Amino acid sequence: MKGIILSGGTATRLFPLTATTSKQLLPVYDRQMIFYPLNTLIKAGIREILIIVAPEHSGQYLNLLGSIFKNHGIHIYFEVQKNPRGLADAFIMGESFIDHDNVTMILGDNIFEDDMSDMIKNFSSGGMVFAKKVPDPERFGVVEFDESGKAVSIEEKPVKPKSSYAVTGLYTYDNRVVEMAKNLKPSKRGEIEITDINNKYLEMGELTVNMINGSWLDAGTFDALLEAGNIVREKGISKNFHPLINEAIDDFNLRLKNLAKATLEAHNLILRK
Ligand code: DAU
Repeated sequence: MKGIILSGGTATRLFPLTATTSKQLLPVYDRQMIFYPLNTLIKAGIREILIIVAPEHSGQYLNLLGSIFKNHGIHIYFEVQKNPRGLADAFIMGESFIDHDNVTMILGDNIFEDDMSDMIKNFSSGGMVFAKKVPDPERFGVVEFDESGKAVSIEEKPVKPKSSYAVTGLYTYDNRVVEMAKNLKPSKRGEIEITDINNKYLEMGELTVNMINGSWLDAGTFDALLEAGNIVREKGISKNFHPLINEAIDDFNLRLKNLAKATLEAHNLILRK
């Protein structure tokens, strides 16, 4: 299983915060936002991860993640997405990275409290999404169920949602997703929609919709960002990151401290001369 984090976009709703950095590099309590989706993938046993970023932020991602995992058995790759063409673009941009494998894609601003690792580890074929009951389903992809509780369709941002269950930003697919993405036509909002991919798997009877109960946050507004920080602190989400992540961050912090110390010592030496 390969992993992709879609971490581009311009995040205009968070201006001026996102005038200087990417939304997914903003802090959520004590970690940059991108570490939360990284944790979701790493917990699921995924060790090869492609991060798709916007051109103006690529240097910042490289500074933070370019070598942080190099002694920790996790391989990070980057792709630069010039235009935010839609979530399904992740599979087109990621084609050679995905190669012949299955893939789990997560949005860079999605924070999950639940641990979905067993479901991802046990995935064999088809598609798998995670749905969560929300008070404002019209903002999301929404699952419609029949009387027996079986998912029958998914609608993207419906004016009249057929249920309160939103599709969250975590998706697992078999290798067929790459060809499906390449054959998508842009929607009315001009994007190639992941909802169209999910509906294709549904039509083939191969989409699993799992329910999640814990907190799910997409930190796209000031209020959501603040709420995300509070929930992360309250529930200890960053404290419970996979050990590989926390070890990598500790090493990184140590390297930064040593670098700062060495720079200061060199500076003092020059002054003393
Ligand atoms: O958060 C879950 C929702 O994500 C789903 O319920 C929807 O079905 C799905 O379409 C998506 O909805 P949004 O319209 O809210 O997605 P948005 O355009 O905000 O993009 C989500 C993140 O992905 C955002 O942080 C920016 C990034 N992105 C988006 C696009 C379209 C990219 O990096 N590249 C892109 O091309």
